[in-house]
Amino acid sequence: MDNLISVENLVVEYKTSGLSGEKTVRAVDNISFDIKKGEILAVAGESGCGKSTLAKTLIKLQNAASGKITYPAEWKNKEFFKKVQMVFQNPFASLNPKMKIKDILKEPLDINTNLSDKEKENQVLEIIEKVGLKAEHLDLYPHEFSGGQRQRIAIARALILKPELLIADEPVSALDVSIQAQIINLLKELKNEFNLTIVFISHDLGVIKYIADRTIVMYLGEIAEAGKKEEIFDSPKHPYTKELLASVPDRKQKFNSVMKELNTDDNIYPCKFYPRCRTPYDFCKDVCPRFTSVSETHIVKCHIFDYEEKEKWGK
Ligand SMILES: Nc1ncnc2c1ncn2[C@@H]1O[C@H](COP(=O)(O)OP(=O)(O)O)[C@@H](O)[C@H]1O
Ligand SMILES: [Mg+2]
Repeated sequence: MDNLISVENLVVEYKTSGLSGEKTVRAVDNISFDIKKGEILAVAGESGCGKSTLAKTLIKLQNAASGKITYPAEWKNKEFFKKVQMVFQNPFASLNPKMKIKDILKEPLDINTNLSDKEKENQVLEIIEKVGLKAEHLDLYPHEFSGGQRQRIAIARALILKPELLIADEPVSALDVSIQAQIINLLKELKNEFNLTIVFISHDLGVIKYIADRTIVMYLGEIAEAGKKEEIFDSPKHPYTKELLASVPDRKQKFNSVMKELNTDDNIYPCKFYPRCRTPYDFCKDVCPRFTSVSETHIVKCHIFDYEEKEKWGK
């Protein structure tokens, strides 16, 4: 598969001020990866690991502190904002409550195209049906829909300009489990129909398993492991990925316990995962792990697979 976008050594920081003075939070910490044309690339990791920051930076809502994102050459200026669209977690907050659905869907066409009213109307009709809703829904307001229907409307609005890249940030996390599968199936269908590339962000590996072609697992702003779906789900290598997978059935509980440990000063070690690792080597607290390749498509940032480093330390 050809690359659509490549991300190199991306760093994104927030400056915050509080009682203890100004602080810099490094939300995305030197990550590199490619997005391949036509794939569904999932980004996994628990709350606070930098997924939304990465999404916002990809869609140019957030500046990078350093690093480089390379987009296709033809995505210049105004064109960029047609080619890349985003769907957010909360379909309640992302749709203007005072606008009818037909106006919500028409707005991107008003802003970005010179189509006639009739042409816009036709496109609105076409897209509402593509997401599984009906023409009669167009005259209603957002509050008249369920969460799942609202997310369908948000997806329709994102697709009406025929983008090439859709970034979906926790698009099913606010929905009932019974509705999640419908929206995931819809995204898969639309991917084929619109020739989309999708970046699908979720803290929930149970959801990612249904949709991803490849998965990147993030931990505190870094990539811990990345590979094809089967590689991550059937043969995870990083202790963090293993922990996340083990927590899938009772994920609510586990995630809560895990989140308590975030935002402490623990992450001063060269391996950010060291304080939580159940199987560390003693040298892990002094040596920064580097990426090793498990296969051509599978990388992991952990000393377990760095045989050279292990030999140096007699492990
Ligand atoms: N606007 C902001 N100002 C300051 N810190 C932020 C801001 N947005 C996010 N952060 C911090 O950046 C880190 C990553 O956040 P985020 O990208 O939202 O993670 P995720 O989407 O994986 O939950 C967190 O520590 C979060 O508190
Ligand atoms: Mg987020």
